[in-house]
Parts: sequence; structure tokens; C-alpha cells
Amino acid sequence: MLKSKSFTLSSNTDKNQKGRDLLYEPRRIRWNRYLIAISLIGFSLLLILSNVNFSGDSYEMVVVPLIEIENQTAEVGTSTTSDSPGTITTVGGDTTEEGQSVGELGEDREEQEEKGSAVIGVLNIETAAAQIPITSFTCDDNRTCQTITCTGQPVNSIAIEQEFEYFIRYCGNKYFDVIIENCVFQKNTIDAYMFSGSFRLNTLTIRNCQLQTIADSAFDQTTMHKLLNLTFEGVQLKSLSEKTFSGLGTVQNFTLINQQQTANATLTASNFLQPMAVNLSMVILQQIQEQCNCQTIYNPTDWLGDDSDTLYAQLLFVDLSGTNFNHTLNNRTFSNLVAVQQLRLANCTLSVIGENVFTAIVQTLQYLDLRGNNLQRLDGEFLALATLNNVTIGMSSNLWRCCENTDLVYYLQQVEDQYARDVVCATPVELQGVQIRYAELNCSGR
Ligand SMILES: *[C@@H]1O[C@H](CO)[C@@H](O)[C@H](O)[C@H]1NC(C)=O
Ligand SMILES: *[C@@H]1O[C@H](CO)[C@@H](O)[C@H](O)[C@H]1NC(C)=O
Ligand SMILES: *[C@@H]1O[C@H](CO)[C@@H](O)[C@H](O)[C@H]1NC(C)=O
Ligand SMILES: *[C@@H]1O[C@H](CO)[C@@H](O)[C@H](O)[C@H]1NC(C)=O
Ligand SMILES: *[C@@H]1O[C@H](CO)[C@@H](O)[C@H](O)[C@H]1NC(C)=O
Ligand SMILES: *[C@@H]1O[C@H](CO)[C@@H](O)[C@H](O)[C@H]1NC(C)=O
Ligand SMILES: *[C@@H]1O[C@H](CO)[C@@H](O)[C@H](O)[C@H]1NC(C)=O
Ligand SMILES: *[C@@H]1O[C@H](CO)[C@@H](O)[C@H](O)[C@H]1NC(C)=O
Ligand SMILES: *[C@@H]1O[C@H](CO)[C@@H](O)[C@H](O)[C@H]1NC(C)=O
Ligand SMILES: *[C@@H]1O[C@H](CO)[C@@H](O)[C@H](O)[C@H]1NC(C)=O
Ligand SMILES: *[C@@H]1O[C@H](CO)[C@@H](O)[C@H](O)[C@H]1NC(C)=O
Repeated sequence: MLKSKSFTLSSNTDKNQKGRDLLYEPRRIRWNRYLIAISLIGFSLLLILSNVNFSGDSYEMVVVPLIEIENQTAEVGTSTTSDSPGTITTVGGDTTEEGQSVGELGEDREEQEEKGSAVIGVLNIETAAAQIPITSFTCDDNRTCQTITCTGQPVNSIAIEQEFEYFIRYCGNKYFDVIIENCVFQKNTIDAYMFSGSFRLNTLTIRNCQLQTIADSAFDQTTMHKLLNLTFEGVQLKSLSEKTFSGLGTVQNFTLINQQQTANATLTASNFLQPMAVNLSMVILQQIQEQCNCQTIYNPTDWLGDDSDTLYAQLLFVDLSGTNFNHTLNNRTFSNLVAVQQLRLANCTLSVIGENVFTAIVQTLQYLDLRGNNLQRLDGEFLALATLNNVTIGMSSNLWRCCENTDLVYYLQQVEDQYARDVVCATPVELQGVQIRYAELNCSGR
């Protein structure tokens, strides 16, 4: 087993090391160090396993060897990460995985879940090492020392720390733009340790990955303390709360394009932008459910949070297109978007827009996208307000009832922008498909 391990590791290193021979040795030494540690641990584990029952008391005995090993390696190694808490965190980072295998052995999981527990660390090194041969998670910066693109599986804290350590050595501990794509997160989860390394990120993009769960405060790490962009695309998140993104107060651009896969897998989300509210300037949120042909209706009021603690003072661009909101908009939904200039609600299956939905934001609003919905009418008062404030409204691809919307007809005959061009009547029949601004309405007798 050890042989195959070292083989995989070396070939891994070989690949990354192209043109960077300088780094080959240190990395390998580090790996050797791991292997020695693993063998030692494996040996002590063997001893322990043969003597000791996994009950609360026996953990203490395991703790000692691990810490000794860690402290020894810190002395031997020259790696920057060795002296930093990063190393220990990495070791502890695999908690969940170990939790599982111990759980499978029928042991008490509760005891194991303490953060940074050395017991977990000991067992984890072994499990993780045993997994490395099947790890194909790799990162490449394309020699930019700027954008690191990672792919493969499983994504876990050890894999991330190890890959990033290489770039830190080669490029210096600068702020990187990281893209993790076409990947599978271990247990489909970003756990509390995954990003607790010694690297630092400027932007983080996770796309087309199997990812369903993010632990509370998973991003509340020094690695993320200056994060500007955070993007999730093609993920399957199931739950988001005020705690999910805590610590990310510096984020300016946030994108979440979530993919619902089965009818049961709805996204439960409440006020999850709150930790980022102060500095956000651009938000794109979308819950796609085409593939499962689901009809779940989402409420953007839950997403944006309607409490007065969450004010988006810098948020200029909000794109909520593509999610089934149907009739959920109300006069509180957007009331916290105190600076918004563009609000996009295209393809949201909006059937009705109630009173005063946009009243709170009409003064800052410049563009409102209502294209591709099921709207039949728009409130005359709102249109007057929009006209007064020079708000451009995208209205095409709706179900406008021209004879019941004289305000709308009048509005479209006044405005002279490109968006008026494609706005057509759905009824009356004789005007179906006719541009409203040119429609000669004869609605008498209706
Ligand atoms: C290991 O090192 C840390 C600090 O470097 C120290 O706090 C700890 O007591 C050491 N543990 C052992 C067992 O020497
Ligand atoms: C790497 O750089 C080359 C040319 O410099 C470019 O063609 C290629 O698309 C880049 N690959 C990635 C993943 O950025
Ligand atoms: C955020 O997005 C806007 C609009 O796309 C862009 O101009 C800005 O540079 C982005 N911010 C960062 C930090 O990338
Ligand atoms: C940040 O996000 C915005 C909007 O998605 C994008 O235009 C910009 O290029 C991103 N910046 C970086 C550094 O990735
Ligand atoms: C907003 O961003 C600035 C600059 O990055 C930062 O100093 C400040 O702490 C951020 N606000 C919050 C609430 O994190
Ligand atoms: C999904 O919902 C159906 C009934 O609506 C139920 O029979 C099925 O067990 C659920 N699946 C999961 C994974 O919860
Ligand atoms: C929207 O809600 C109405 C009831 O309010 C319902 O009849 C209709 O089917 C819903 N449409 C979609 C696409 O969910
Ligand atoms: C929103 O509408 C409700 C009734 O639907 C009303 O009681 C409340 O005062 C309204 N709030 C604002 C800010 O207009
Ligand atoms: C709305 O959906 C249609 C059909 O899927 C698509 O062609 C169009 O680009 C979407 N519009 C916007 C603004 O996203
Ligand atoms: C709307 O536009 C007109 C002409 O472009 C301008 O005179 C007026 O001040 C604008 N009103 C607002 C509220 O921006
Ligand atoms: C309007 O339609 C009615 C019948 O529906 C017709 O009698 C009338 O002449 C029409 N008026 C105009 C101005 O076309």
C-alpha cells in the first residue's frame, strides 16, 4: 500500500513540477515526512487498537504521539506552513471523513467532533493517506501566479492545503484567484476546515461541482478575509442561512446559480446575504429547476432578508432572473435595496405584481427587467412613478392584456427606448403579437 502511495504522489508532483525543478525536492521531502508520520501513526494505532477500546478515556493516549510527530516535523521541515496553525488544521480538517469511518465502526461520533481534536487528526492522516491514490484533485496556475484552477475529486481540506502550498512556495503568499471546477466535494460538503489553510484568496469560484452543504462559518477564515468575489455556479446547495457566509464582509460580487435536481431537493434559504450586505455591489441569484421539472416557488424576500438590519447600501446590480417567484413579491421584498440601480427579474414566472413592490427603490432604479414573465397588467401608479424617475422597464415576452391596460399602452407610446419595441399584446385576439406602441386599440364593448 505504501508503495502505491508514494508512486502516485511522485507522479503527481512530476506533473506539477514541469519547469519548476526547484520545487521538486521540498515537496517530495514533505511527502516523505508524511509517509514517515503515517507509518509511525499506523504503528501506534496498531498498538492502540490491539489494546485499547475506543472509549472516551483512551483518546488521551492517542493525542500524545500525534502532537509529538507534528512538533518534530515542524522542526525538521522548512515549510512555511509547518510552523503555522495551518498544518494542524489541515490534519484536523478531515474530521467529517473520519467521523464517518469511525461511525461505520459503530463508535461514538459525538466525542470525535470536537474541533482540532488530535484523535481525529491521527486517524485522519491515515484515512486521507489511504485515499490519496484515488485522489485526482489537482490545481494549475498556468504559470500566472494569479489564477489557480483546480479540478477533480475528492475536494477536502488536505487536498486543498497541499495543492495550494505549492503555489505559495513558488509564487509567495499572495492573494490568488481560485477556480474549483468539475469537481466532487468530499461528502458533497464544504466543512468548517476546508478553507482554513495558510493561503489567501482574492476571488473564489466554484462551478460545476457536486456540492450540497456548506457548514456554518466555513468561510470565516483568514484565507477569506479579503475576498472580493464569491461565485457558485452549477452546484446543488440545499440550505443557506445567515451563518453560511459569515466573515465575508469584504465580498463585493456574489453569484449563486444553484441547480435543483429532484423535486425534494428544494433550497431552504433565509437572509444568507446578511454577512456580506455592507460591501456587496453586485448579486446574481438563481435557482434553476428545469432539469427536475419542478414547480417549487421561491420567495426572494427570504433570500434578501426583510429586516432592517440588512441594508444593502452599496448594492447597485441585482439579478434574480430565472427563478420561479410567481406571486411572491410584496412591498417588503426589495425594501432593503436602498441603492439598487438595476433589478433583473426576467423569466421569474411572475404572474402578478402587487402594489408598491418597487416603490421603495424607484428613486435609485434605472433599469427594471420584467421580460419573460406571465404578467398581464402593470399598475398605472407604478408606471407613472417609473416615468417620473426615468426608469427603463423591460417588458417583452409577457401576456399583456392590452384592453385592460390603458396605462401601459399609454406608457409605451410615450417612452422611446429599445425595450418598447418588442412589447406586444397577448389580447385582444385581433391585436395578438402587435407592438403595443403601434396598436390601435378598439376596446369598445369589452
Ligand atoms: C507542540 O508545539 C506547540 C507549539 O509549537 C506547543 O504548544 C505544544 O505544547 C507542543 N506539544 C508537545 C507535545 O510538545
Ligand atoms: C493557459 O495559457 C494558455 C496560453 O498562455 C492558454 O491558451 C490557456 O487557455 C490557458 N489555460 C487556462 C486553463 O487558463
Ligand atoms: C464586481 O463586478 C463588477 C461588475 O461586473 C466589476 O466591475 C467589478 O470589477 C467586480 N469586482 C471585483 C472585485 O472583481
Ligand atoms: C468578479 O466578478 C465579476 C462579476 O461576475 C467579474 O466581472 C469580475 O471579472 C470578477 N473578478 C475577478 C477578479 O474574477
Ligand atoms: C467592507 O470592505 C472594506 C474594504 O475591504 C473593509 O475594510 C470593511 O471591513 C468591510 N466591511 C465589513 C462589514 O466587513
Ligand atoms: C421525495 O419525495 C417523495 C414523495 O414526494 C418521497 O416518496 C421520496 O422518498 C422523497 N425522496 C427523498 C430522497 O426524500
Ligand atoms: C403560480 O401561482 C398560481 C397560484 O397563485 C398557480 O395557479 C400557478 O400554477 C403558479 N405558476 C407556477 C409556474 O408556479
Ligand atoms: C405593505 O403592505 C402591507 C399590507 O399588505 C401594509 O400593511 C404595509 O404598511 C405596507 N408596507 C409598506 C412599507 O408599504
Ligand atoms: C429567458 O428565457 C428565455 C428562454 O429560456 C431565454 O432565451 C432568455 O435569454 C431569458 N432571458 C433572460 C433575460 O434571461
Ligand atoms: C429624467 O430625464 C430627463 C431628461 O433626460 C431629465 O431632465 C430629468 O431630470 C430626469 N429625471 C430624473 C428623476 O432623473
Ligand atoms: C370598434 O369596434 C366596433 C365593433 O367591435 C366597431 O363597430 C367600431 O366601428 C370600431 N371602431 C373603430 C374606430 O374602428
